[in-house]
Amino acid sequence: ILDLDGISTHIKIQPTMYGIFFEDINFAADGGIYAELIKNRSFEFDEPLMGWKQQNSRILSHNLDSGVLTIYSDDSKTNKNYARITVNNDKSYILENEGFRGIGIHQNTQYDFSFDLENVSGNISAVNASLIDENGMVISKVPILIKGIGWQKYTAVFSPSRTVEKARLQITFTGNGVVNMDMISLFPQDTWKGRKGGLRKDLVQKLYDLQPGFLRFPGGCIVEGRTLNERYQWKKTIGNVADREHLINKWSSGFAHRPTPDYYQSFGLGFYEYFQLSEDLGAEPVPILSCGMACQFNTGELVHLEELNPYVQDALDLIEFANGDTNTKWGKLRADMGHPKAFNLKFVGVGNEQWGEDYIERYKVFEKAIHSKYPEIKIISGSGPSPDGEFFDYGWKELKKLNAQIVDEHYYNSPEWFTKNAGRYDDYDRSGPKVFAGEYAAQSVGVVKPDNKNNWQTALSEAAFMTGLERNADVVAMTSYAPLFAHADGWQWTPDLIWFNNLQSYATPNYYVQQLFSNNKGTDLIKISENGNPVKGQHQLFASAVQDRNKGETIIKVVNTDSQGKSVEINPGSRQIGNKLNKITLTASKLSAENNFQTENIKPVEEILALKKGKFLVDIPANSFVILKLK
Ligand code: AHR
Repeated sequence: ILDLDGISTHIKIQPTMYGIFFEDINFAADGGIYAELIKNRSFEFDEPLMGWKQQNSRILSHNLDSGVLTIYSDDSKTNKNYARITVNNDKSYILENEGFRGIGIHQNTQYDFSFDLENVSGNISAVNASLIDENGMVISKVPILIKGIGWQKYTAVFSPSRTVEKARLQITFTGNGVVNMDMISLFPQDTWKGRKGGLRKDLVQKLYDLQPGFLRFPGGCIVEGRTLNERYQWKKTIGNVADREHLINKWSSGFAHRPTPDYYQSFGLGFYEYFQLSEDLGAEPVPILSCGMACQFNTGELVHLEELNPYVQDALDLIEFANGDTNTKWGKLRADMGHPKAFNLKFVGVGNEQWGEDYIERYKVFEKAIHSKYPEIKIISGSGPSPDGEFFDYGWKELKKLNAQIVDEHYYNSPEWFTKNAGRYDDYDRSGPKVFAGEYAAQSVGVVKPDNKNNWQTALSEAAFMTGLERNADVVAMTSYAPLFAHADGWQWTPDLIWFNNLQSYATPNYYVQQLFSNNKGTDLIKISENGNPVKGQHQLFASAVQDRNKGETIIKVVNTDSQGKSVEINPGSRQIGNKLNKITLTASKLSAENNFQTENIKPVEEILALKKGKFLVDIPANSFVILKLK
C-alpha cells in the first residue's frame, strides 16, 4: 500500500527541477542542431581543406590541369583563410564538400546556398552548384552568374528532387581566371522558427517537447578545454557569424577509441543563439564558464590567481550581455544582434567538473566579484567528476563553509548504482547548498566505455533514481541527463538522450523517462510512503508524488524494477481526488530493448480509467515506470 500524505509538505518543486544539458559533443552543434550543412565552410580548420575535395585529385592543393586551389590568409581577420581558385584553359574545375558525414537533403525542402566571392581576374562568368548523391547523380543544380569585381555575397536556392542522406555539394567553375571564395554555406529553409542560418527543426522540437526548466550550456569539458587556450570563450562566439573564430573541438580526440579529427566548433551556435534557444524553450539559461582551469583529465593547466581577472571579467560581462540595458557596452551588442530585451539571466556556473583546492581558491574570487556586482545571480559551483572521486567530499565541505548556493554533481554509473542510490539525497544537509544533478546517465557496459546502450534497463534505473531526486525536491533544485545529442555516424560518448543522422532523429527510452518527469513535475511535493517509509526500493518499488496546483492534479510516479508485475494499493488518504485516473505506462518487452531510427517501441502509453472514492488498486507491470494522474 502506498499512502499519500493528506497534508502538503510545503515543499515547492522548483520550475528548474528538470532541465537539459547541451554540450557540443557527438556532433551536437556543428553537424547537428546548428543546421549548417557545409563542413569547414570558411577553410578555417587546421588543415584548411579538410572536408573539401578537388574532383579527381587525391592530393589536395596540388596543381591540376583544369585548375588549382590555394589557401590565402588575411591575418587582420578572426577568420583568416579563404580559397583562391585559378581555372585554366577554359576547362571545368570542380570542388566538393562532404558535409558532416554527408549532407542530409530532403525532397520538397528548399535550401539556401550562399558564398562570398571576389572576382580577381580573367573570365569566370558563372559557377554551377549541384547537390549530388552517393553515386554522383545530380539531385538539384543551380547556375550562379558572377558579376563585377570585389567581394560579393552570392545566393541561390536548391529545390531537391529526392531525399538523400549522404549527399555532397559540388561547385563547378568554368573559364579562364582567378576567384577568391569564402563562407560557402548551405542551410535548409525549414529551420526551427524559420530563422535564416538557424537550428535543425526536428532536433529543437524534441527539446521543446521536454518542456525543460533550464538549458545548461555550452558544456561540459569543452568549457574547460584541453588547454586554457582551447577553453570556451563566449565573447568569440557572438557578433557576425562569419567573423567567429573557429576552434578545434575538445572531443575531436575524445577518447582513444573515437578519434574524430574533423570535429571543430564554428560557433554558428554561439552564446546569443544559446540564450535565444533558452527563450524559445521557455527554459532558464544556465551558462557555464571557464574558472581558469583547463580540463583536469587533460593538461589541468591553471591560471595563476593574480592573472584570473580576465576570466572573472568575462563572467561579469556575460551578465551584462544577457541582462544589461542597451546603453551598456555588452547590452548594446545584444540589442545590435536583434534582442534589445534582456534575457533575464539568473544563474551562472563557475567551472564545469573541477575539483580540489585549486578550484575552491578560484571559485572564491569569482563568487566575490559576481555577488558584489550582481547579488541576485545564483552561482553554480562544481564538485568534481563523480561522488566516488577523491575530492568530492573535500569540495562539498569547503563549498558549505563558503555558503555556496548550488553545487553541481555529476554521476555516470551502472544501472545498479542508480537503483541503489535512489535514497542518495534523503540524508543531505537541508541547511547547506542546493544540489544540481547537472550530468547523469546509467551506463550499460561500463563508465565512459564505448557502446553503452540507451536500453530500457538504463532508462528504468534512471526513473527509479529520479523518484529519489523528486522526493528530495527541498534540496535538489536542478537536474539534467547527459549528453543530450549524438550523431549516429559521429559520436564520441554513449549513452545519449537523442540520436540523429542527417535526416532523422529518435528519442531513446531515457528521453521518455525525462519527458514524463518534466511534463509532470507539478508544483508541490507530496509525501508518499509505505508503512511510513519513503518508497525507495523495498520490493523493487520506487515512488514519488506531487501536486500540480495549476492543473488541479495529484501525480504519482511509481517505478517497478521487478520482473514480476505488482498490484499496488494507493491510499489517497484525505486528499481530494476526482473520479478520473490518467495512467501513463512506459515499459518494454525486455531490459535490453532499445528504440532506433525505424521504430520507437518504447514510448509512453496513456489510458484513462474510472476511479471510485477512497483506496484503489492499480497494476504496475514488470519493469515499468507508471505515472498516475488523479484529477
Ligand atoms: O557529458 C560528457 C562529459 O562528461 C562532459 O563534458 C563532462 O562534464 C563529463 O565528464
